[in-house]
Amino acid sequence: MKLREAKTSDVNALYGLERELFCSKNYPLSKGSLYYHAKNSLVLLSEVEGTLAGYILILTKRKDAKLYSLGVKDSFRGRGISKALLQQASKNLKDLGFQKFILEVRVDNIVAFSLYEKNGFKVAKKLKAFYKDGCDAYLMELNYGSEKL
Ligand SMILES: CC(C)(COP(=O)(O)OP(=O)(O)OC[C@H]1O[C@@H](n2cnc3c(N)ncnc32)[C@H](O)[C@@H]1OP(=O)(O)O)[C@@H](O)C(=O)NCCC(=O)NCCS
Repeated sequence: MKLREAKTSDVNALYGLERELFCSKNYPLSKGSLYYHAKNSLVLLSEVEGTLAGYILILTKRKDAKLYSLGVKDSFRGRGISKALLQQASKNLKDLGFQKFILEVRVDNIVAFSLYEKNGFKVAKKLKAFYKDGCDAYLMELNYGSEKL
């Protein structure tokens, strides 16, 4: 598995993965948004034998870095790819001088919640009916002063 930062030339492949991962009701990012983020945010890709297997997108033009999206292609799940993406991104954020890495996750997304918890994120609060379908979210935080990553 190879991890690298996304370039604007990756936008078409990223868009294909995004549409595979998030159906229209889950608001997949447009090509234009992906192009913007490839230039202005932290976007890391995971490639396996030349195939785009997953990506992580973090908003960095703010005080605290915020996870915006993370996804791994169905056929590549369960191999530690999201863990590798999260840990590499977290290292980059620390090197960039961020004090805190934050995210929101659906309370019913057990897999993602477990990934974040195992990698040092703590629940800061529960956000009632945060999503359009009424599902609550956990706001989770990783503080670089006190955590292992
Ligand atoms: C969530 C997601 C990114 C996990 O990717 P992945 O590459 O399969 O995850 P990994 O193999 O790196 O596993 C990392 C951790 O996730 C959790 N996990 C992974 N698969 C799991 C499963 N089937 N059941 C429960 N927990 C699971 C575990 O905590 C695992 O850590 P461990 O291997 O030390 O036990 C992937 O399932 C996905 O793309 N889901 C759809 C999009 C999404 O929900 N994104 C997150 C919110 S934006």
